[in-house]
Amino acid sequence: MEQHQITLNAERIQANIEALARLTTPEQPYTRRSFTPLYRQGREQVARWMQEAGLDVSMDQAANLIGRRPGSAGDLAPLAIGSHTDTVPGGGRFDGIIGVVGAIEIARCLKEQGITLRHPLAVIDYLAEEPSEFGISTIGSRAMAGALAPEHLRLTDPAGRTLAEGIAQMGGDPDHIGEAQRQLGAFALSLELHIEQGPVLEEARIPIGIVTGLVGIHRAQITLEGEANHAGTTPMRLRRDALAGAAEIILALERLCRATNGQAVGTIGKISAAPNASNVIAGRAELVAEWRSVDPALLAHLAERFEEEVHEIATLRSLTLSYNLLSDTEPVQVPAEAQRLLMQTCEKLGLRGRLMPSGAGHDTNHIAALTPAGMVFIPSRGGRSHCPEEWSELDAIVQGTLVMGQALLAFDRGEQ
Ligand code: GLV
Ligand code: MN
Ligand code: MN
Repeated sequence: MEQHQITLNAERIQANIEALARLTTPEQPYTRRSFTPLYRQGREQVARWMQEAGLDVSMDQAANLIGRRPGSAGDLAPLAIGSHTDTVPGGGRFDGIIGVVGAIEIARCLKEQGITLRHPLAVIDYLAEEPSEFGISTIGSRAMAGALAPEHLRLTDPAGRTLAEGIAQMGGDPDHIGEAQRQLGAFALSLELHIEQGPVLEEARIPIGIVTGLVGIHRAQITLEGEANHAGTTPMRLRRDALAGAAEIILALERLCRATNGQAVGTIGKISAAPNASNVIAGRAELVAEWRSVDPALLAHLAERFEEEVHEIATLRSLTLSYNLLSDTEPVQVPAEAQRLLMQTCEKLGLRGRLMPSGAGHDTNHIAALTPAGMVFIPSRGGRSHCPEEWSELDAIVQGTLVMGQALLAFDRGEQ
């Protein structure tokens, strides 16, 4: 029987979000870092939910967790829905998680309500979307898009483990990682539901954001070597203070990005100093810098200017510099047909939708290289995200899931 509306189970969505929220390190609320036992435990739970939803569960070589449902019409490419279940330190209960929980809920409702799609469906929990301890982010989606290079697999975490070892521990097969790469058109459409992570929708009292484009993100790891020495006896003129150099670099990035009048943002949120003692001049400092924009030319300009300034600062302070570009993901435009599909779905559901860019990076940044890829945003309370206060209302999550599900049905029936 053909049906035109799925009925979601809000209690189940809430229960699943809460179940994952409980899987947190005791030290920090809502923290489930990629490549940890907790993350594996969370994904085992996700795999069980996928099975309950009638999906055929497997893992690809890049440890992307995938639940599949066959389609009724020959050999059409699958529709992909999903997001990620790892968190940043201090994390959040909703970032990535609602995209996975919502996608599983759609699959489960299709099964329970006897709705057949012409296209196969792939529900995906992409591996390690947040910046990992290996320095890079979006590892699973990057591999699917063929953008995970062999040198990435040799990156190490602070414990000395390689990314290849980490992927193997997560159930992937790093020796055959190339087989995780999908060809252009491997999916007929990809949709990702996500919290906005900013204040726009809440301030405008609009329930649904339809993403028009996603920022590109460049990240660089910078190491400064100076000279550790006594903080009391070393004259100021003789110091080679690595941490003072790092401070100048932080302010240089802030100044460069402020000068773009809102067209770019830049952050240095990760820094370490050694020996990190109050009465020792820092002999070494390590930081990770990132800058973002939807404008590729501006990103490239910032990359050039920032690296020049970092070299100047290191030279003037007689610090030895190592500058290592970790990643340079380019901005992505969401195709007009995917935006239209989502906007028309909102109209049919009587929900206001707003077209908006995404300041956050997502797995969609990479999946967009394979297929038309759209994103649905829902409001974030107070615009807060990447922190324990991150919150979105259940009603909003259900509405966002419904938009994704109905858009999927419309696309499947060729109504876009
Ligand atoms: C992903 O969370 C990002 O850093 O934008
Ligand atoms: Mn995030
Ligand atoms: Mn996310």
